[in-house]
Amino acid sequence: MASKFYVTTPIYYVNDAPHIGSAYTTLAADIIARYYRIKYGKENVFFLVGTDEHGQKIARSAKEQGFTPIQLANKVSEQFKNAWELLNISYDFFIRTSDPRHEKVVSELLQKIYNNGYIYEGLYKGLYCVGCERFLAENDLVNDRCPLHPNKAPEYQEEKNYFIKLKELVKNEVLPRIEKGKYNILPQKRKNEILARIKEGVEDVSISREGVTWGIPIPWEKKQTAYVWVDALINYYSATKFLEDKEKFWPANLHLVGKDILWFHAVIWQALLIAAGEEIPENIYAHGFFTIDGQKMSKSLGNTIPPKELVDKYGVDGARYLIITACTFGEDGDVSLKEFDVRFNADLANGLGNLVSRVAKLCENSKFEFHYDNTYQYSKNEKIESFRFDEALKTIWDEVVEVDKYINQTEPWNLKGDKLREVLEKSIKSIKHIAYGLLPFLPGTAEKMEKQFSEPKIKSEAPLFPRI
Ligand code: MSP
Repeated sequence: MASKFYVTTPIYYVNDAPHIGSAYTTLAADIIARYYRIKYGKENVFFLVGTDEHGQKIARSAKEQGFTPIQLANKVSEQFKNAWELLNISYDFFIRTSDPRHEKVVSELLQKIYNNGYIYEGLYKGLYCVGCERFLAENDLVNDRCPLHPNKAPEYQEEKNYFIKLKELVKNEVLPRIEKGKYNILPQKRKNEILARIKEGVEDVSISREGVTWGIPIPWEKKQTAYVWVDALINYYSATKFLEDKEKFWPANLHLVGKDILWFHAVIWQALLIAAGEEIPENIYAHGFFTIDGQKMSKSLGNTIPPKELVDKYGVDGARYLIITACTFGEDGDVSLKEFDVRFNADLANGLGNLVSRVAKLCENSKFEFHYDNTYQYSKNEKIESFRFDEALKTIWDEVVEVDKYINQTEPWNLKGDKLREVLEKSIKSIKHIAYGLLPFLPGTAEKMEKQFSEPKIKSEAPLFPRI
């Protein structure tokens, strides 16, 4: 296979302004995209983000706020773009499901599935959670409520729908592919959860809605619209179809998602693609939740932290660092602003920032001129490739500690001439190596460091991370 990498984030609902929970997936995807751009070259990476704009949830939210759905979508999709810009997210394209080009691809894909005989008409009766935009089975309920939206009772809905033969597709196509490793569900414990749920039994699911007008019409029956999840999942595929020169990126190499939406990605999305006769993505990785005092951060619970709040206080790279290190990737983690201060001061102001200031000062005092020949070549980072971001950062921070120690031991303030030059040149080399490692994580800081330590006369500069 050609060396290319296509990574996606979930497309966010436009009823909710961006918060650091939504920023979490996007930032992780950004780190991965930046890493693979170094590995494969810029033109061989495609990083897609976007917004999920159709369906009942958005239509209702818009109404409550006195907007039409598209007005709300226009407004909130801008907020997402702004938030990603603030966090220096290097996405290649921002897809919106209200884009007519996307709508056309959705319609074509559904028609293919229909033509292939995987769709039939049926009657749906049951409970629906508008917050999740999904039907709930008996065993999904906790105290008669959706566990993710306990503040609102699920609604009984009964309507004529088109169904996809999910049960048959899972048994004959999806499950064998999971078992043969044709695509990966990561981490392993999530794969086990999906397998267990498949073993419990899979029912066919509806792919259309009768009462929802804010959506993409079903091509063979225009009175119905595509179920918003089906419409949304297809974004990953449609972007590669309607954008110029992006076709080579399908199938996706990686869908990064939160654990709440893994089933849709690991099972339903695969079934849709297989039913349409399309290739399926290679990896699906589900991470955990940011919680505040044990509760998921979300608008409906009113406990969100907007990314801007962090960027204003800690700077872009400070915010990026704190978000990505908030918990072990893959696990849940509880967040508190107080703990952010502690980590910022310890790791960034004292650790990295201090080292950079220290070496710069020593170089400046020496009045030496430096000449450089070491620009770093790509080397494979196993930790990033396997989503162990905290370990990847730990390796870099170990190097920070090592250089600090080296300086303490060699005491360059007591040295002169060649001896001093040797210590400084070694330290500069290490700083450049640290900067190189930081590129995917803290791109602005990495570039600043690289620049500062590439001048013939190195000068002290303002601290990278002023103490809080
Ligand atoms: N629109 C759907 C996704 C469609 S993808 C084809 C959706 N949107 S969402 O806005 O509700 O959530 C998007 C992602 O953000 C999910 O992966 C979810 O897990 C993640 N997060 C939302 N809140 C989060 C936290 N508090 N913590 C970590 N991730 C969180 O679902």
